[in-house]
Amino acid sequence: MILKSVVLLSAVIAAFIFLVEAKTLTTKEGQKIQWIPSGDARKNMSQLIPAGEDTNGKINYVARGTLSRHDSRWVPGKAHMNGNVFYMYYAFNGSEFLTQTFELLVVPLESTTWVQGEGQTIPRLAIVGGLEPSNVETSYICRGKVDNLTMTGKLLKSSGKCGIPFHKEQRLDDYEVLVINEFGESIGLSNSELYQRNAVDIHNEFRETHHVGPLTLNDDLNNRAVLCAEYYATKGTIDHRCPYKNGAGENLWASCCSPPTPENAASGASRGWYSEVSRYNYTCNCMSNAGHFTQMVWKNSREFGMGVVTVGRYTAGCALYYPPGNYVGDYLNNVLPP
Ligand SMILES: *[C@@H]1O[C@H](CO)[C@@H](O)[C@H](O)[C@H]1NC(C)=O
Ligand SMILES: *[C@@H]1O[C@H](CO)[C@@H](O)[C@H](O)[C@H]1NC(C)=O
Ligand SMILES: *[C@@H]1O[C@H](CO)[C@@H](O)[C@H](O)[C@H]1NC(C)=O
Ligand SMILES: *[C@@H]1O[C@H](CO)[C@@H](O)[C@H](O)[C@H]1NC(C)=O
Repeated sequence: MILKSVVLLSAVIAAFIFLVEAKTLTTKEGQKIQWIPSGDARKNMSQLIPAGEDTNGKINYVARGTLSRHDSRWVPGKAHMNGNVFYMYYAFNGSEFLTQTFELLVVPLESTTWVQGEGQTIPRLAIVGGLEPSNVETSYICRGKVDNLTMTGKLLKSSGKCGIPFHKEQRLDDYEVLVINEFGESIGLSNSELYQRNAVDIHNEFRETHHVGPLTLNDDLNNRAVLCAEYYATKGTIDHRCPYKNGAGENLWASCCSPPTPENAASGASRGWYSEVSRYNYTCNCMSNAGHFTQMVWKNSREFGMGVVTVGRYTAGCALYYPPGNYVGDYLNNVLPP
C-alpha cells in the first residue's frame, strides 16, 4: 500500500516537472541555442557570434567538427573563413586537425557568457561541445590567447586546460569557459550525437502512442551507454554485465556481421525492441516476455542514453533508462495500452 502511493506520487511529480519544462521551452522557442551545419551558417553569417580572431584578422567562430578517424565524435574548436571556404580546426592528442564536416554554435543575444576558467572545476551550465574521442569524456567550450589572438578550443575536466588548435594543440592554463546564462538553463545543449537523438525520437513516438511522457536525453546516461556498448562490443556478447550502468534500466541489441551505421543501428534496435508489443498482455501485470518493449514505454522512466559501438564486425547497441523500469507488480501502472 505504501509502495503503491510512493509510485503514484512520483508519477505525479514527474508529470508536473514535464509540464513546467514544456512551458519554458515554448516561451524560449525563438531563442534556442543550437548547432547548425556549416552549409546553413554560410547562408546567414550575421547570426554567428564572433568568439575571437585568427591570423590575418580572420574572425573566429565556435564550432564542433568530426573526423571518421576519431570515431566521428564531435570535438569543439574554431572555425574561420579563408577566401571563400569555411574551415574548422580542433585539437586532439597534441595535434591540430582540419575538417570540413562541422557545425557552428548559434546563441541568442545575451544568453551566454564567457567566465574565467578555474583548472579542473567546470563552471555550472558550461556548454557541452562534444565527447573526447579516446575516452568519451565530456568536452566543454573554452577560449584563450595564443600569440595575442583569442581562439576557441576544448576544455576537458581531466586536464583542466583549454586545448586550442594552432599549429599543434596549445594547452592553456589561463582561459575562459562558455556558459549559458541562468534563464537559459532549460534550453541548454547536450553533447548528443545524431544517432542518440534519433533513438530518443523513436522512443518518444512510441511513448506517445502509449500515452506516457517523453524521455529526455541525458549526457551522463549517453556517456555510460557508449561505455557499455564499447564493453559489449569488445567482449562480442551482450550479457547485461556492463559495470557502468549505475542502476539504470538497460535494453541491448547486437549485430554480428556487417557493421551498420550508428544511425541505422540505433533506429533498428529501437524498432526491434518495440516489435515485442504484439505479445504483451496488458491485463496480466507482468512482463509477458516483452521486457524490451515494457522498458521503452515504462511511464516512470524519464531519462535516456544510447550508445552504439562497433569492434571488428560486431556492433553492440545499448540503451539506458532512468529511473529503471520493469518493476515486478508495477506493470499495470506503467505500461498503458495504445
Ligand atoms: C539572419 O540571422 C539574423 C540573426 O539571427 C536574423 O535576424 C535574420 O533575420 C536572418 N536573416 C535571414 C535572411 O534569415
Ligand atoms: C597520440 O599520438 C601519439 C604520437 O604522438 C600516437 O602514438 C598515438 O597513437 C596517438 N593516440 C591516438 C588515440 O590517436
Ligand atoms: C602582445 O600584446 C602585448 C600588449 O599589447 C605586447 O606588448 C606584446 O608584444 C604582444 N606580443 C606578441 C607576441 O605580439
Ligand atoms: C492475459 O492475462 C490475463 C490475466 O493474467 C489472463 O486471464 C489472460 O488469459 C491473458 N491473455 C492471454 C492472451 O494470454
